[in-house]
Amino acid sequence: MKNIVILISGRGSNMEAIVQACAAEQWPARVAAVISNKAEAGGLTFAAERGIATACVNHKDYPSREAFDAELARVIDQFQPDVVVLAGFMRILTPGFVAHYENRLLNIHPSLLPAFPGLHTHQRAINAGCKLAGATVHFVTAELDHGPIVLQAAVAVLPGETEATLSEKVLRQEHQIYPRAVRWMVTGNLVHDHGRVTTTDGQTQVQFSA
Ligand code: GAR
Repeated sequence: MKNIVILISGRGSNMEAIVQACAAEQWPARVAAVISNKAEAGGLTFAAERGIATACVNHKDYPSREAFDAELARVIDQFQPDVVVLAGFMRILTPGFVAHYENRLLNIHPSLLPAFPGLHTHQRAINAGCKLAGATVHFVTAELDHGPIVLQAAVAVLPGETEATLSEKVLRQEHQIYPRAVRWMVTGNLVHDHGRVTTTDGQTQVQFSA
């Protein structure tokens, strides 16, 4: 049984999708803990109601990124994680933290990386006249919103698209691809070679939607 630890900062809808898929598809894994840097994160309630351990490590209580990350890692490691999942965890992580979880740390970002790292991805895609937008699940490296790509979902950017309509469309895709990527992690279906990630059984790592 593999242990999954999920880090959130807010709503936690991707975390919910992972918790639900883990149970429905009977993964050889359990969500051992959901940890937030914000006590008011809505997702903590969802997790607690399902009997999942929750914790809050408030970044404002620490004098530096290094001190915060050290405490965060100490709390995470109590759950002996095989996979650490960043699901809307809005903190820049230190190189030491990233190295500690090398090959175990996944993130989802709401753009087709390497385009649009950072914030306001949907508005930036609309402003740039992109005809495709989407989301990316990737292994985390020390560089923000960067790292070997596991899975991408692309959606059409239609005439009249707004940040709200595009983010809703992309989020629906996120809820499909993130659980799939985490399942591949816990079932050992990912091969990672020189920055390129493939699946052991040739499963498609891209999905398209209108
Ligand atoms: C998601 O859209 C996720 O891709 C994004 O935050 C949202 C969290 O929603 N993450 C990032 O922007 C990371 N750079 P959720 O809390 O409902 O899962």
